[in-house]
Amino acid sequence: MFNVTNNQKQAHVIVCGNEKGGTGKTTTIMHITIALLNAGYKVATLDLDTRQQSFSRYIDNRSIFATRFGFDLSLPNHFVIQRDHSDYVSDQENNELKNFLGVVTQIQAEHDFVLIDTPGHDGYLMRLAHSMADTLITPLNDSYVDFDVLGQIDPDTGNVDALSHYARTVREARRQRRIADGGLLDWIVVRNRLTQINSRNKAAMYNSLNSLSMQLGCRLAEGISERVVFRELFPKGLTALDDLDKLLPDTRSKSSHLSARQEVRSLIASLKLPIDELSKKRQQARDAFLEKQTKPVDTIGM
Ligand SMILES: Nc1ncnc2c1ncn2[C@@H]1O[C@H](COP(=O)(O)OP(=O)(O)OP(=O)(O)O)[C@@H](O)[C@H]1O
Ligand SMILES: [Mg+2]
Repeated sequence: MFNVTNNQKQAHVIVCGNEKGGTGKTTTIMHITIALLNAGYKVATLDLDTRQQSFSRYIDNRSIFATRFGFDLSLPNHFVIQRDHSDYVSDQENNELKNFLGVVTQIQAEHDFVLIDTPGHDGYLMRLAHSMADTLITPLNDSYVDFDVLGQIDPDTGNVDALSHYARTVREARRQRRIADGGLLDWIVVRNRLTQINSRNKAAMYNSLNSLSMQLGCRLAEGISERVVFRELFPKGLTALDDLDKLLPDTRSKSSHLSARQEVRSLIASLKLPIDELSKKRQQARDAFLEKQTKPVDTIGM
C-alpha cells in the first residue's frame, strides 16, 4: 500500500487515468506538464505505461526538436518505470513496485508537481498511482461506450444504474489514500474530443455525466474539442500552449491553435491546482535577487 508520510511528501501529485484506452490521457497530461513548467514550477513526470511509453516519446520528441532547431523549450525531469524481466510474475511485480516507490519518494521531495501518466488498462502500478494522487484527471471521449467504464446507463430512463470497474477502482484508491495519510483525492472527469456542433448525444452525455458525478464524487471540467492540432504536434513534442507562431512559422491554422490554447487554459483553471502564479513569480524574483547579493542587506549600496 502507498506508504509515503506527509512529512516526506511535498509535491502535488497529478495522475491521468482511465481504464479505457485512447481517451486522451497522454495528450492531456503533456499539456498540463507544459502549463506548469511555463508557470515556473519544478515538474517531474513519470510514465507508467511501460509498453507504449507515449508520454516518454512525446517528451523525447520535444527535446530532440528543441536541440535540432535551437529552441529553448521547457522540459520536465522525466522518469520511466522500466519493465522487469524476472522469470516469475511475482518477482516482476515486486521489483517494479520497489523501483516505482523509490522514484516517487525521491521526486516528490524535489519537485512542486509530479505528473503520472497511466496505461489504459488495469494493473497494480496503475492502481497504486491512483491511490497516491492529489488530483486525478480522467479524460473521456464523448461517447456512451467510454461512459460505460464509469457507469452503466438504464436504456429506458437514462439513469445511472451501477458503477463500473474503473469507478470502483477509484473509489478503492480513495479509501486506501485516506487510510495511508488522510489525504483527499480531487477527481475531475474531462470530456475530450467534443464535436464543435451541438448534438443530441452531446447534451445527453452532459446530463448523464452530471448525474454520475454526484454518485462518484467527482467534478466535471470544461471539455476539449476534437482538433487536428492535438494530433499533429506529437512528432515535434509541442503543445497548443507553445508559441506556435514562432516555432512553426509556416502553420496555417492560427485561429484553431488559439482556440485550442484557450480550451487548455480553461481546463487547467477548472482543475483548481494549488497554483498561485503571481506569488511564485514574486518568489523567483526574490530568490534571484538574493542569489546576486554578496553583502549583508544593510550594507547594500553603501
Ligand atoms: N482533443 C483531441 N482532438 C483530436 N485528437 C485527439 C484529442 N485528444 C487526443 N487525440 C488523439 O487521440 C488519440 C489518443 O490520445 P492519447 O494517446 O492522448 O490517449 P491515451 O488515453 O493516452 O491512450 P492510451 O490509453 O493508448 O495510452 C491520439 O491519436 C491523439 O492524438
Ligand atoms: Mg497514453
